[in-house]
Amino acid sequence: MLARQALRSLSSHSRLFSSSSARQTKVAVLGAGGGIGQPLSLLLKTDPLVSSLSLYDIRGAPGVAADVSHIDTASEVTGYAADKLDEALDGVKVVVIPAGVPRKPGMTRDDLFNTNASIVRDLAAAVGRVSPEAHILVISNPVNSTVPIVASVLEQAGVFDPRRLFGVTTLDVVRAARFLSGITGASPSETPVTVVGGHSGVTIVPLLSQSAHGKSVTGEPLGQIVHRIQYGGDEVVKAKDGAGSATLSMAYAGAKFTHALLRGLNGEKGVITPTFVKSDLYASQGIDFFSSNVELGVNGVEKIHPVGPISAEEQKLLDAALPELKKNIEKGKAFVAQS
Ligand SMILES: NC(=O)c1ccc[n+]([C@@H]2O[C@H](COP(=O)([O-])OP(=O)(O)OC[C@H]3O[C@@H](n4cnc5c(N)ncnc54)[C@H](O)[C@@H]3O)[C@@H](O)[C@H]2O)c1
Repeated sequence: MLARQALRSLSSHSRLFSSSSARQTKVAVLGAGGGIGQPLSLLLKTDPLVSSLSLYDIRGAPGVAADVSHIDTASEVTGYAADKLDEALDGVKVVVIPAGVPRKPGMTRDDLFNTNASIVRDLAAAVGRVSPEAHILVISNPVNSTVPIVASVLEQAGVFDPRRLFGVTTLDVVRAARFLSGITGASPSETPVTVVGGHSGVTIVPLLSQSAHGKSVTGEPLGQIVHRIQYGGDEVVKAKDGAGSATLSMAYAGAKFTHALLRGLNGEKGVITPTFVKSDLYASQGIDFFSSNVELGVNGVEKIHPVGPISAEEQKLLDAALPELKKNIEKGKAFVAQS
């Protein structure tokens, strides 16, 4: 009873999903049996813009699907076993990918490259073959490299459309709003922060100077909150003590970004959020993927917003982010070129 009430309130009242519902959409989760995949599937089941959920994993997706399918929302849910990837992708409009291994204490996101690069490459190839027009949302780390991997695979297949590929950096945005709220005492809904760059350590660049509440934070507290936004994931990895990285907050962030994209795809105007996409902003420096505010529309990426006015401290952060980002992107591209 309580759980049912909680879910109702989640789908109808929370900030996660707006109640407008128009065209409905088939969404696939690849890695649905995992720590992120399970709660993400649950949240997507409660999204009124999702008409059908296709859950795939090399382990456990049919079980997750059977469980989630009993939730009393309108969408259909189907689970697919390891050998049913093509069936899982049939007719999907949006594919969310949280497949891969998470960090253990002491690891950076880049340490995951060796395992996750090939997982993401193979899943991207399947999407390119079965549903080449699908929008692909990459959660698997290291996002700074896995997104270029997906782009290169789709390019090789001749089906890459940069408007339909997104690295999910929403957790950095969610953390920034939450942490700033903790300092200022305002509600997180009043403390949104644009986060640009990439999704790991120094490549995460929060633009607090652009936030009404954020610009009041200066001196040591500013340095502390920036560090916390950049390394918030480490707090979770450490606290979980070997059992993985952020899963619940990531599922929330993944569902939030998916919902924003679905609103854009349904024709809603003015849906703007940071995401890591193919971008011209720093392409002249050899960095052709970058996260900044992006307007989402019927075709996916509608407009990439520039970084905008930033403080001298933020310029320093950006200067530190760009070379690391460049390395991460090149590593992803080189992996596909050598595959
Ligand atoms: N973008 C972000 O902000 C963010 C935040 C947290 C975690 N992550 C990343 O998300 C990924 C998943 O994390 P998790 O905690 O859910 O890990 P997990 O190990 O709990 O789950 C991963 C799932 O992927 C599945 N999988 C592995 N290979 C697969 C394949 N080829 N096809 C389909 N499924 C496959 C596994 O069976 C498992 O169920 C990790 O790479 C982690 O680093 C990203």
